[in-house]
Amino acid sequence: MTNKPLSQQLAIVTGGGTGIGRGFSEALAAAGVRVVIASRREAVLQAAADEINRALAAELVFPYAFDIRDRGQIESLVSQVIEHWQTIDLLINNSGLAVPETADAITEEGWDKVMDTNLRGVMQLVRSVLPHMTKNDFGDIVNVSSQAGKHGYADVPSYCASKFGLLGYAEALRDHVRKTGANIRVFNLCPGLVDVENTKPEQQPRAGFIHVANMARTLMYVLSLDRNVVLEDMNIYAR
Ligand SMILES: NC(=O)c1ccc[n+]([C@@H]2O[C@H](COP(=O)([O-])OP(=O)(O)OC[C@H]3O[C@@H](n4cnc5c(N)ncnc54)[C@H](OP(=O)(O)O)[C@@H]3O)[C@@H](O)[C@H]2O)c1
Repeated sequence: MTNKPLSQQLAIVTGGGTGIGRGFSEALAAAGVRVVIASRREAVLQAAADEINRALAAELVFPYAFDIRDRGQIESLVSQVIEHWQTIDLLINNSGLAVPETADAITEEGWDKVMDTNLRGVMQLVRSVLPHMTKNDFGDIVNVSSQAGKHGYADVPSYCASKFGLLGYAEALRDHVRKTGANIRVFNLCPGLVDVENTKPEQQPRAGFIHVANMARTLMYVLSLDRNVVLEDMNIYAR
């Protein structure tokens, strides 16, 4: 099976400019991965890329503004990355949001926003990236689901549906790459509460939350496994 050192890899991290995604981007760039961070807010992405690059004294993180709910913008992201780097080795499906609305008060606007961002957008992005990973005979896809993808919570039914759905989609995707023989691994991270406010190394997470650095360490661990290892869902939460 083709293998590739991290220092020769190109990653797309959706939502890579904030919170958990930013933690992933920092850890990947520190390992020498070129990281395209992609989400809607250009200024947030630019500031994150500048800060990470400055800290590493290297040009490894590149901002790209797009909305994962827009199919045309997904295709532009993928084609521009391929045109520039000829490869997408790692796709981290991290963009996501919740609209708190109980089942009796749920709105079409709310569930469309959640499902289009957390599930439909991921499926479209994977569909665009997959041919390039297959052609290059190498790829890793990491989905950020949630403990809300394993358990139901009354205040966020659409979020739970999207995160359960993401795990179901990932199982089908894993079966697809197994059947086609593609050298592509599919991992799911299912965190409980992650503190995205106290993210500096010296800061303590709030009670009941984990520090974002643990998400980054978990990511680097799963990526370090041998190519023939299937690791399904990583459940990670404060004890
Ligand atoms: N923090 C937790 O406790 C926790 C627990 C379990 C799972 N998660 C999951 O972890 C992931 C990251 O969340 P986070 O906690 O780090 O919160 P966050 O900082 O709010 O990150 C969410 C990211 O998604 C991006 N995003 C939202 N809508 C988008 C769109 N339409 N197109 C492209 N990007 C979009 C946002 O960027 P823009 O606004 O710039 O688009 C943002 O960077 C999410 O999938 C979340 O569901 C979080």
